[in-house]
Amino acid sequence: MFIEKARFESIEHLENNIHLIKVYSPSIAHSAKPGQFCNIKVSETDFPLLRRPFSVCNVEGEHVYFMFDIHGEGTKLLTKKISGDELDILGPLGKGFDYEGDFDTAVIVAGGLGSAPFPFLTKYLTGKNIFSFVGGRSKNLVIKWGLQNVLVSTDDGSEGFKGTNVELFQLKTELYQNKKFRVFACGPNPMLKALQGLCIAKNYDCQLSVECAMACGFGICQGCPIEKSDGDGYLLVCKDGPVFNPKDIIF
Ligand SMILES: Cc1cc2nc3c(=O)[nH]c(=O)nc-3n(C[C@H](O)[C@H](O)[C@H](O)COP(=O)(O)OP(=O)(O)OC[C@H]3O[C@@H](n4cnc5c(N)ncnc54)[C@H](O)[C@@H]3O)c2cc1C
Ligand code: FES
Repeated sequence: MFIEKARFESIEHLENNIHLIKVYSPSIAHSAKPGQFCNIKVSETDFPLLRRPFSVCNVEGEHVYFMFDIHGEGTKLLTKKISGDELDILGPLGKGFDYEGDFDTAVIVAGGLGSAPFPFLTKYLTGKNIFSFVGGRSKNLVIKWGLQNVLVSTDDGSEGFKGTNVELFQLKTELYQNKKFRVFACGPNPMLKALQGLCIAKNYDCQLSVECAMACGFGICQGCPIEKSDGDGYLLVCKDGPVFNPKDIIF
């Protein structure tokens, strides 16, 4: 884990006005793994003073990319950065995806901004078949950037399958069922909960990346608990996750 004074390089507006920022951050670029995140101090002076967590979206050489939409003050401040600004970044943090081991097909299930960690993971999946089930409430909330073999679902039917990406995943069993597959997912909790139930019932190999409000980002403040399924207290999303085995947690 590093605290790096990174150099803000650029901001790009992707499809649907999603923001992609590029920072020069050599220490984090060399050590980050897919599914990890960084805690970014969005401002040295203004409100909000707390850092904000963002998934590592991609790494190219000594540059790190983060993808976000404007939620509140923190993300709004990030859009005001200009080339050459210094950005204080803590990371890489948390336990990322396990992409090693015996599987030949990767099934990505991403809802909304839950697409953010997958361009980086996709890079580590060379040689595997990849299918990306990408969902959003409507067409303008579907984020496909950096993903491969994308199957789209929208709640309102404005693009692709009308329904959820978990329903579409269930319908398209021919893509993965007779293969050694592993599911990698990130998105809103209701999506993760639906997928969790399905994967436990079917005994699918699955990893869920969970988001919640965070403060410190590395296990000190106890501000990001998630209930353990064995009844034995809580895990911390920032330190024990954000990627979990669906059998270990309760939403
Ligand atoms: C491990 C992790 C990885 C993340 N990766 C990304 C990413 O790659 N891209 C991205 O856009 N966002 C990501 N998030 C969520 C991101 O941290 C929040 O969107 C951000 O903190 C909002 O800051 P803000 O100051 O703009 O909004 P705030 O003013 O803090 O909040 C605005 C609104 O968003 C809600 N909100 C805040 N944080 C979250 C959250 N974590 N989940 C759901 N709702 C929230 C608040 O309740 C409030 O309604 C991630 C969160 C975690 C924990
Ligand atoms: S955010 Fe502080 S313990 Fe997780």
